Amino acid sequence: MSGWNHRHVIDLAAFSLQDFATVLELAQRFRSLPDAGARKLPALQGRLMTTLFFEPSTRTRSSFELAAKRLSADVQSFSPSSSSLSKGESLLDTARTYVAMGATVLVVRHRCAGVPACLARDLDRAGERVAVLNAGDGLHSHPSQGLLDLFTLARHFDPLAPSPEGLRGRRVAIVGDVMHSRVARSNLWALTACGADVVLCGPPTLVPEAFADFVAAPPPGQHEDPVPRRGSIQVVRSLEEALPGADAVMTLRLQKERMQQQLLSSLDTYHRLYGLSRDRLALCGQPVPLLHPGPVNRGVEMAGDLLDDPGAHLVEEQVRNGIPVRMALLYLLAAGDGAGAQNSLKPSSSRP
Ligand code: NCD
Repeated sequence: MSGWNHRHVIDLAAFSLQDFATVLELAQRFRSLPDAGARKLPALQGRLMTTLFFEPSTRTRSSFELAAKRLSADVQSFSPSSSSLSKGESLLDTARTYVAMGATVLVVRHRCAGVPACLARDLDRAGERVAVLNAGDGLHSHPSQGLLDLFTLARHFDPLAPSPEGLRGRRVAIVGDVMHSRVARSNLWALTACGADVVLCGPPTLVPEAFADFVAAPPPGQHEDPVPRRGSIQVVRSLEEALPGADAVMTLRLQKERMQQQLLSSLDTYHRLYGLSRDRLALCGQPVPLLHPGPVNRGVEMAGDLLDDPGAHLVEEQVRNGIPVRMALLYLLAAGDGAGAQNSLKPSSSRP
């Protein structure tokens, strides 16, 4: 695939505009497959994807598993509670055990930021040929979610040819618990790379002012920004400032499990100030796509009646789009180059 040179996918800060375009283009190809009646491709036949999830997950793990199966890969899941980690085996040695069994891609989720990056570095040093795909690490990064959000927005603006250009100059409001959200951080790298202007909205405890400079410098360990010119980030404190003129709105779950102190006076007050309802959305001045990565705290980030109306938001569409986006990532990391890989994008005759 043109210009793709990532051995691992850890953080969207490392993605160029071309990388985003490549993922969107492939995801669009995979997204159109069910419509054409073909559900399984031979692209990753003989490859093994292992999921190592040290944190709970409803959507991400099952979406990766389905994506791998649609590309004919074998799938293996590691569960920390019944593993030798409890006997003192290190994470690296656990990972190497799965590599010895033939894993081509390790999909890793961990509550500590940096674990997938350390694992990738240690496996590289040990000479292992395996790709690490970050499925969410602490507050740091959740690249596959950032990409599926980008794909969902790009498809909303151009259903037939979604591309990064479709986001240029769009105003995207992200509302809520930005502080504890790895999804917001990945979205900031993705959206600003595509030239969108992002407005972050929430109280100072959840949206510190410093987020206005979030993409001003590349993150530690990355010497330069692969994107020459990014969209802007603005921090505001009220929906009345954030929503007028918005082209899209994303709201985030209050990450109660990651909050160290009481950062809100009450959930009711939060909902009154930052919860989205039909009335609130009318502030945008036009019908806008509404996204939430899930899981939703019903009646907190979004009013229950809004959530119950599938025409009012893209939450299920995000879940649907997660599969082709993760297929694209697995394909890019595991299929290898050459004519064989291209041919493997033609549907196989066998159906699941
Ligand atoms: C997100 C996560 O785990 O970071 N969920 C997800 O992957 N769909 C967001 C969240 O938990 O709020």
